[in-house]
Amino acid sequence: MYGLNVLINATAASFHYLKNKMEIYASVEDMEQYLQYIGGGAGALALTGVAAASAFYLASRPTPQRPLFPLDAQCILESSEASGPDVIRVSRFYKDAKEGKFVSYLHSDATTLYESFRRGAKISNNGPCLGWRESYGKPYQWLTYNESLLRARNLGSGMVEIGLKPGTSTMIGIYAINCPEWILVEQAAYCYSMVIVPLYDTLGADACSFIIKHAEIQVILVEDDAKCNSILEKSPRCLKKLIVFKEVRPATKQRAKNMGIEILRLQDVELLGSKANNPEVPPKPTDLCTICYTSGTTGQPKGVMLTHENVVGSMSAVVLQFGDHRLRSDDVMLSFLPLAHMMERCCESAMYMQGGAVGFYLGDIRRLSDDMKALKPTVTPAVPRLLNRIYDKVQSDINGNCVKKMLFNMALSSKESELKRGIIRKNSFWDMFVFKKVQEGMGGRLRLMLVGSAPLAENVLTFIRCAMGCVVVEGYGQTECCAPVTLTIQGDHVPGHVGPPLACCCLKLSDVPEMEYWSRNNQGEVCVKGTNVFKGYFKDPEKTEEVVDEFGWHHTGDIGMWMPNGTLKIIDRRKHIFKLSQGEYIVPEKIENIYIRSQYVAQVFVHGESLKSCIIGVVVPDVDVIKCWAQENSITGTFSVLCNHPEVKQLILDDMVAWGKESGLKSFEQVKDIYLHPDPFSVQNGLLTPTLKSKRPQLKAYFKPQLDDMYTRLT
Ligand SMILES: *[C@@H]1O[C@H](CO)[C@@H](O)[C@H](O)[C@H]1NC(C)=O
Ligand SMILES: *[C@@H]1O[C@H](CO)[C@@H](O)[C@H](O)[C@H]1NC(C)=O
Repeated sequence: MYGLNVLINATAASFHYLKNKMEIYASVEDMEQYLQYIGGGAGALALTGVAAASAFYLASRPTPQRPLFPLDAQCILESSEASGPDVIRVSRFYKDAKEGKFVSYLHSDATTLYESFRRGAKISNNGPCLGWRESYGKPYQWLTYNESLLRARNLGSGMVEIGLKPGTSTMIGIYAINCPEWILVEQAAYCYSMVIVPLYDTLGADACSFIIKHAEIQVILVEDDAKCNSILEKSPRCLKKLIVFKEVRPATKQRAKNMGIEILRLQDVELLGSKANNPEVPPKPTDLCTICYTSGTTGQPKGVMLTHENVVGSMSAVVLQFGDHRLRSDDVMLSFLPLAHMMERCCESAMYMQGGAVGFYLGDIRRLSDDMKALKPTVTPAVPRLLNRIYDKVQSDINGNCVKKMLFNMALSSKESELKRGIIRKNSFWDMFVFKKVQEGMGGRLRLMLVGSAPLAENVLTFIRCAMGCVVVEGYGQTECCAPVTLTIQGDHVPGHVGPPLACCCLKLSDVPEMEYWSRNNQGEVCVKGTNVFKGYFKDPEKTEEVVDEFGWHHTGDIGMWMPNGTLKIIDRRKHIFKLSQGEYIVPEKIENIYIRSQYVAQVFVHGESLKSCIIGVVVPDVDVIKCWAQENSITGTFSVLCNHPEVKQLILDDMVAWGKESGLKSFEQVKDIYLHPDPFSVQNGLLTPTLKSKRPQLKAYFKPQLDDMYTRLT
């Protein structure tokens, strides 16, 4: 692995010695002395290694980077009348950050996504903008900024020509994987102040259909034949046209025609637009730029309304917080995370604002490394799933070979001690001989990585920081806040938090009494206010009111905790909670997580009502365990029959209550009755979300007869 074979013959002892010495001799001078010293006595192979180490070390005397501000006080405390007793925290980056004065742009010529793309064209001096390649083995080809702008404008003008009205009441659907056309469509829409509504596979056909209808989308830009057909599957009447990037089959065209939908080719619309040359209608910062539909645990997808100012403010604050590492026009990024999510949208938009180049992957995430090697990106967004995979792969590589493992651990600890001193580099001895392959797997040129979208384990974060030898920052955010709300700063190498607030917003923690989180203990629900906070859910003032209070604070539902040095740590999620008639709080998810430990329980849904004094449950028993038990106890019948058997029910109920008791559930937190259901809750039957969480309102509605029946019998 990692070019280590040269060194593997060296004795373990001498390397162990080397490791200790490396830690002791920290400065360059000491290192030189040490190398001379060891040069006299060690074996030839070890000598080669050490000489190599010294050469690398001397060629690249590492200079520590200073953090942008003191690491023990990463944010500023404020209090204000509107917030009552709550303490508000703001970024140190924006000294004047006060109510209503958060960062909304970095450059006065880039206050909307329309302007920021043009700024990129200017400062990159019409540099490469959108990159793609035809297949594996082929090099990347590029559209320059001016070419992209021209095509986007033609496309936008063409969309006006086929009947779309310029302005923010026109919604443009887009259903495609990441590709240059995606960005052209986005910029085309902005040329005429139209609004982008992304559709994506994991929504499912029903949700897509709901969104098209809800947003009254007339035109969708679609990648290919398959995606056209999946839209035609359940297309609402408002849909009039599909504009396709790739050729579609005649059968698809006919199918669309039968439904009164016209299919047009992208290049034809561009041509139309180029001839018509409709005058541009650029958006204002306060204009809507996108509606991002998110599929939640409850009901239909919610449309998060974001303005140009939301996105530009958010990405400007991120660029600001990168400090010396901010994006430049010579930066290159690989686009592979879904553009339907705001994290990727913001990363790319920031690249365009700074004049960087974005290359698109070929669409197969398993061959990501191939695209990385071809493009050699300098900056990348990343998600924990990807980093965990890299970590696991390295672990499985070194396990079972103790020399490899030892060298790996030495490399890691050496780089970790550099990290602690503020040294970030990929030209050390250990980079060359241990981490080179990991780095090359991502192209070998990364200087900045932004991790987000889900929590990342501390050991994996530290490993990635050491192995990649680039600045790795971790953010926390939500679609409702555009992208990040907090972001770690370069120089803070300690994992386990998500950094201080960004300069586009302020944060406070509010009490969550039912879960015993109190802001006076620096714990509570994370609340955000600032230029990045969304304008509400589209056509849904009720749902908006549930999360945005009268003072404009967006309640995220995440439970955070302030660390002494001003960084935020996410510690919990505000749970679905209800009260029973005596006033006790019930957290059903907590109870379900305990009952699920019973071997008989495959799935469980705990339910209670404020007018009742106890809770009840629906259980999907584990088929194999129940069948096995039934056989041993000579009870016969199909699984459905077993589910109706009183003895089976008693067995499961007793076991659940025993688990509850052992885990400290109070007696009112224990179910008093259960109903056994033979069919699992699934995404298909609408009882689980695509991320396999219970959809509570749906479960409650679905099992209403059984729940009512249980309550009737209990009283
Ligand atoms: C790109 O377009 C801008 C604006 O139209 C123009 O000023 C500039 O000269 C163009 N650059 C190149 C290299 O063509
Ligand atoms: C921040 O505070 C935590 C908890 O006190 C501490 O473990 C960590 O080392 C601090 N971070 C830095 C960079 O000093």
